[in-house]
Amino acid sequence: MAGFSRDLGIDLGTITLRIVENGEMVVQEPTIVAVDTEEQKIVAVGEEALSMVGRVQEESIDVVRPLQKGVVAYYELTELLLDHLVRKIGGSVRIFKPRIMITHPYGITSVERRAVHEAALQSGDAHLINQPLAAAIGIDLPVATPTGNMVVCMGGGCTQAAVIAMNDVVSGESLRVGGLDLDDAIASYVRRKYGMYIGQRTAEMVKLRVGAAVPQDEEQTVELQGQDQVTGLPRPLTMTTSETVEALQPTLDEIFEMIRRVLEKTPPELASDIIDRGVALCGGGALLRGMDRLMTQKLGVPAYLVDNPMSCVADGALKALAIYSTLQRHLQ
Ligand SMILES: Nc1ncnc2c1ncn2[C@@H]1O[C@H](COP(=O)(O)OP(=O)(O)OP(=O)(O)O)[C@@H](O)[C@H]1O
Ligand SMILES: [Mg+2]
Repeated sequence: MAGFSRDLGIDLGTITLRIVENGEMVVQEPTIVAVDTEEQKIVAVGEEALSMVGRVQEESIDVVRPLQKGVVAYYELTELLLDHLVRKIGGSVRIFKPRIMITHPYGITSVERRAVHEAALQSGDAHLINQPLAAAIGIDLPVATPTGNMVVCMGGGCTQAAVIAMNDVVSGESLRVGGLDLDDAIASYVRRKYGMYIGQRTAEMVKLRVGAAVPQDEEQTVELQGQDQVTGLPRPLTMTTSETVEALQPTLDEIFEMIRRVLEKTPPELASDIIDRGVALCGGGALLRGMDRLMTQKLGVPAYLVDNPMSCVADGALKALAIYSTLQRHLQ
């Protein structure tokens, strides 16, 4: 064990909560809590709580996502979830509270930021960093130099774009649209075209199996069950890659509009660095097939998928603790 105090990088995502210690991912759990509303206590968290969705009989059990669209929606549950997962790492954490760097979306209000901070204070000596800056550090971009670096984080609840130079976000924006909205787009496409209902998790399965941002050379298909809008009965359905491309375009366009605004607000010198160096894509949404190609087409700036798209935010949060004295005045 390294000394008395332990350092943790925590990425508090809408879908997944990730904790990195000593450069290793030690926690990766769904950001979900199951609560007994009668007794006012937590019955399960993470994976175990997720498995209870739609399966629990007791009416008094609620399964809740404490974060919505990137921000804390249920403060106490967020605090309890963090406490539970940090304790689970075990060791000296119980005796010596760890030093924590926890992330929040760029551009949220000070009240929303304070909620993240206070929810984490229970678990340790907590500091805050915005997600695009953490991501840039986590993918080893030269953030401390005057060079312009652009990062786009595509999460489940929100999408963020930021240009970073000299350890600071020079221009950036967040949009409360993410992977869950892409799932919704697939579900409403199926409703309009086939008159069938499908749930978010089925829609996500379609996105993961055959989904793409641009037409693919190889067309894939997936079989699923929907519920007929008229009869209410289950009916099988086949979806193809090109249907997902069509279904996802309006939502993807909203996302690209936001990214374009960020580029437009970027000073010309930095914008030319970005054209040279490309835009780094991270977050689960960046894994959608052809996302890098569509973004390159739509923005006219090369975009590339980073090597650690799912862990870079938590990796960067941990690294930020190591250079805390340099970063401190840039963190709110
Ligand atoms: N291969 C893939 N193709 C398309 N989407 C994917 C893929 N893998 C994961 N996703 C999507 O990525 C999203 C989760 O990404 P991530 O874990 O980065 O989100 P998060 O950090 O929890 O949320 P946020 O940053 O918005 O708070 C989900 O919507 C999921 O469907
Ligand atoms: Mg995220």
